[in-house]
Amino acid sequence: MSRPTEILSNDHKLVLTKLNVMEQSINDIKSPGAKKILADLKEFFEKDVKLHFVKEEEALFPEIEKFIPRDAGPVGVMLMEHEDLYKYEGNFFKGVALWLKDDNNMEAIKLIKENGRSYINLLREHIYKEDNMLFMMADMHLEDSQINEIMRKFEELDRKHNI
Ligand SMILES: [Fe+2]
Repeated sequence: MSRPTEILSNDHKLVLTKLNVMEQSINDIKSPGAKKILADLKEFFEKDVKLHFVKEEEALFPEIEKFIPRDAGPVGVMLMEHEDLYKYEGNFFKGVALWLKDDNNMEAIKLIKENGRSYINLLREHIYKEDNMLFMMADMHLEDSQINEIMRKFEELDRKHNI
């Protein structure tokens, strides 16, 4: 059976490849394919990445908090970073929507570039910290009963999000 941290780390690999594509399109925003690529990312971030964050927030983090209190450790930092990522993502897609209507809208391009780059940089760092610190701590300390509870919640969340 897969471990919860293994499932989440596999999600990270896919997210990192999408971030590379996103970064290229932002850097070369006038290229013919950029519009479709950036618009298509919306579904990936709003469905898949959102589900991944919810699995961490509602299933994994509460079990980690049983041995490391939120405010004294990495969980509090991870949650704050999720909030910042939601903010950058919202502003990024606000920019994309405006830009799809008018590709000369400089304000839209500014929203895309600034928020897109902040999102990419923060999410890369965030994933690095989870993979190399938080998940290692979780693997060391989680009891089998906690792992089972996390897996049960993952399945429930997959069902709720229709995956
Ligand atoms: Fe994550």
